[in-house]
Amino acid sequence: MATVDVNIESSTMAPIRVDSPLDTSLPINPTPYQEPKIIKRELRSLVGFANLPNQWHRKSIKKGFNLNVMVVGESGLGKSTLISTLFNRTLYPSKTARDPAAELPKTVAIEAVTADILENNVRLHLTVIDTPGFGDFVNNTDSWKPIVDDIDERFDSYLEVENKVNRTSIVDNRIHACLYFIQPTGHSLKALDVTVMKKLHKKVNLIPVIAKADTLTEEEVIAFKQSIMTDIHNQKIDIFEPPKYENDDEETRVENEELMSNVPFAIVGSIEDVTTEDGRVTRGRSYPWGVIEVENEAHCDFVKLRQLLIRTHLEELREKTGNVLYENYRTEKLAEMGIKQDTSVFREVNPAVRQEEERALHEARLAKMESDMKAVFQKKVAEKEQKLKKSEAELFARHREMKEQLEKQRQDLEEKKVRLEAGRVVEEKKGRKGFSLR
Ligand code: GTP
Ligand code: MG
Repeated sequence: MATVDVNIESSTMAPIRVDSPLDTSLPINPTPYQEPKIIKRELRSLVGFANLPNQWHRKSIKKGFNLNVMVVGESGLGKSTLISTLFNRTLYPSKTARDPAAELPKTVAIEAVTADILENNVRLHLTVIDTPGFGDFVNNTDSWKPIVDDIDERFDSYLEVENKVNRTSIVDNRIHACLYFIQPTGHSLKALDVTVMKKLHKKVNLIPVIAKADTLTEEEVIAFKQSIMTDIHNQKIDIFEPPKYENDDEETRVENEELMSNVPFAIVGSIEDVTTEDGRVTRGRSYPWGVIEVENEAHCDFVKLRQLLIRTHLEELREKTGNVLYENYRTEKLAEMGIKQDTSVFREVNPAVRQEEERALHEARLAKMESDMKAVFQKKVAEKEQKLKKSEAELFARHREMKEQLEKQRQDLEEKKVRLEAGRVVEEKKGRKGFSLR
């Protein structure tokens, strides 16, 4: 049974204060102000918000999901092949229909391949953007530029529609994930890889993959993965990391950690069906020593990659694209145009971070109040001291003045006394004379 807090405003009005001595008609209400009462009540029936996830679920099914994945990497690493493998069919029928075993043509332009995938009534609109491989030339400076331009153009067209006054629902063509293909050298990242990844990592969710992993042994793959991750860490390249939520259950947490521990995913792609030893027909690559199955987790990480893209992290990839990568791009773009915006509005809100920020803000406010109070106190003390000093000086001056006056009066009296005494002597002398005359 749900409980609800009902907030009832107290019917007793706050007393009216009468400040004006002229207005004596209103009586002064002696009743003190009362806090609003909060009554806790148990609801007899459900309000219905427990059904919100179902509403969301229905709406999502109706709308369907959409995911745009881009593949980037040096020439001939199997990007187009992987896309065909993902869609489980050959994507360039006009070019390869005559000979199903023919090689895929070299990709020369950025091409998008889209498919609507339906699973248990849930529709996924998956678009994979194939890009021409780079690194064929002695000087590969700027060979990646068309790719970066394409990502920016997608952001620009989204921004343009978003800024329209009468916009209808926006078609999201932004890149939600970018698979970066690494040549299976078994050593470390190439300088060109580092350059291109750094050009991309602030614009897309970067997911590094080891191309043609069937050309390396199992041990070589493990060592290569470690050395790639060390390079990525040292070069401060941001790769996609799923957010951790506090309410994630233990099973989800362990599953995510296990999944992410396989990055960079070791990939094998194929447009051919092969027959396994036990007679199954599956996508794979056939070798004299055996068959490598694309969808066998013991053979490569293709299934794990597909799981991350579609099964477990589709929403997070889309959310990070919209809330972080696109917002950063948009802020920079608007700043270039001279428009400033409040970035805090678009930030992802993590309750723990928010709480920490609020605490820091509160402490800063307290510290400011304390320092302000200290400053006021010191100012007042200084003023008082100044006043005291001034009145002390005045007192001294008055004291000296009075002392001088007294001294002068004393001297005058002294003089008068001398004079009087002198006068009395003369009088006496005169008087004595007179006496003698009589
Ligand atoms: P560009 O479009 O030129 O950049 O090449 P790409 O990266 O699209 O490569 P593509 O898919 O055209 O494949 C190039 C070659 O690599 C083809 O001969 C594929 O059969 C082969 N190939 C693709 N994936 C794999 C793989 O996983 N293992 C092996 N051994 N070969 C692969
Ligand atoms: Mg290609």
